[in-house]
Amino acid sequence: MINKKMEKAINEQINWELYSSYMYFSMAAHFDSINLKGCSGWMRIQAMEELTHVKRFYDFLTARGGRVIFSEIKAPPVKWKTPLEVFEETLKHEQHVTTRINGLYDLAVELKDHATGSFLKWFIDEQVEEEESVDGVIQSLKLNENNPGGMFIIDKELSQRAFVAPADVTI
Ligand code: FEO
Repeated sequence: MINKKMEKAINEQINWELYSSYMYFSMAAHFDSINLKGCSGWMRIQAMEELTHVKRFYDFLTARGGRVIFSEIKAPPVKWKTPLEVFEETLKHEQHVTTRINGLYDLAVELKDHATGSFLKWFIDEQVEEEESVDGVIQSLKLNENNPGGMFIIDKELSQRAFVAPADVTI
């Protein structure tokens, strides 16, 4: 049976992962509204990936005898000034998620909860990839800040991202 403190912390993380998905869908809608379909597609995939993170936490908590409790999800922003601002906010958000995951891991160590510590390792690795991929987009956007043709190419490149459902996450 999972420790109550850890159960509460995982439920808070589930809420945060749902908010992440909500925010990325909002960013996708923003990009759709300014006709940047590649950026929108990239964000839609980001939003779908966050839902798979929800599912990982959900399954883990349930398997450990915990109870998943959903709480209110705050509304995300709806508008940004530039594509660069959207991706900078994405990076800031992911850095915050990394801090949260590290906090969960610290709690697992404090509680001597080895199963949760082991489970969280997937997320620790995932955050490295998440931050790296967003940072790559930011670098491209910065290089093309005063080049409208560059934005067209970046949008095309981002449209190549494909959603791959993780084999170990089932419905
Ligand atoms: Fe669920 Fe983007 O971290």
